[in-house]
Amino acid sequence: VETEFEELYEANQFAKEFFIRNLMKTTEGKKAIEYLYKRGINDATIRNFELGYSPEQWDALVQYAIKQNFSLESLEKAGVVARREDGAYYDRFRGRVIFPIFSITGRTIAFGGRRLKDDENIPKYINSPETKVYTKGKVLYGLYQGKEAIRRKGYAILVEGYMDCISLFQAGIENVVASGGTALTEEQVRLISNYTNTIYFLYDADSAGAKAMMRGIDLMLAQGLDVYIVKLPEGEDPDSFIKKNPISEFNKLIENAVNFVEFKALTYQQLGKFDDPNVKVKAIRSLVESISKIPDELKRNVFIREISSKYKIPERLLVNEVESIILRAR
Ligand code: UTP
Ligand code: MN
Ligand code: MN
Ligand code: MN
Ligand code: MN
Repeated sequence: VETEFEELYEANQFAKEFFIRNLMKTTEGKKAIEYLYKRGINDATIRNFELGYSPEQWDALVQYAIKQNFSLESLEKAGVVARREDGAYYDRFRGRVIFPIFSITGRTIAFGGRRLKDDENIPKYINSPETKVYTKGKVLYGLYQGKEAIRRKGYAILVEGYMDCISLFQAGIENVVASGGTALTEEQVRLISNYTNTIYFLYDADSAGAKAMMRGIDLMLAQGLDVYIVKLPEGEDPDSFIKKNPISEFNKLIENAVNFVEFKALTYQQLGKFDDPNVKVKAIRSLVESISKIPDELKRNVFIREISSKYKIPERLLVNEVESIILRAR
């Protein structure tokens, strides 16, 4: 089994070196460098995150592997090349900026790739398929680079995307990780909880981001984490915000982060008609659901008190609701 893991690590390493060389040393790669510069990414960040480029050609990596006498079978197992029905190998990543994904010990285990052209007919990002060394829902992008800062600062900032992560890191906000897409998993929460108990949730300020945070909050509460929700101006993501604003404005966002009670209240308020008792009931139910996930009874009761005073609901009633949900879940 160990040698099989080793085979995949080596294949990913081989592919990564190929992608880096293409970015740095080829004419075609210059387009990718220009793209990154245009997006404000500098050389230090390119090196630190080991960004690369995959040529547009169908079989650039395949041909390179043949020339270097590297096993195509291994590259296929690692998911960086695939096979057509007629048996011919081809590259998975073509014409993309490459973001290597690292394990916690710094091994390369997979890749994300962003299209260079704004061609709506191809997906903006593609990722390696799941392999023996890569399970999408168990990895946080940037954790390898960010774990020291997370420990030092005592909290992690959780963003959606690759670009969000490297942009914040470049701006000096190094305690950042990305879930990669919007559906945060229990395993990702467990992973981060090895480094800190406090999360600042900073997803894109669009409806997808808000929905994903609503779901993500409960996952974090259930594992005993303290979660704060950061509010970006509508339509922005962390990458676009940090490019337009001084770091002091970013720090203000962090200082103004709200807890989940405030966040859910705000979200329901934005649905409008907050004077409508039915909407109020929905909000309270959703809050009670979240609170029932919290393992620590003291923490549950403190939040119950907050809701009780905010909505003028007797504490006893809320406690009963929470306890009946907990009993039902057993
Ligand atoms: P976004 O659509 O918010 O993209 O997706 P982004 O990170 O802001 O990318 P830029 O700034 O346009 O380059 C957030 C994350 O969701 C995943 C990627 O991990 C992306 O970073 N995603 C998105 C995919 O896996 N595939 C897609 O087609 C789109
Ligand atoms: Mn998004
Ligand atoms: Mn985004
Ligand atoms: Mn973006
Ligand atoms: Mn009790």
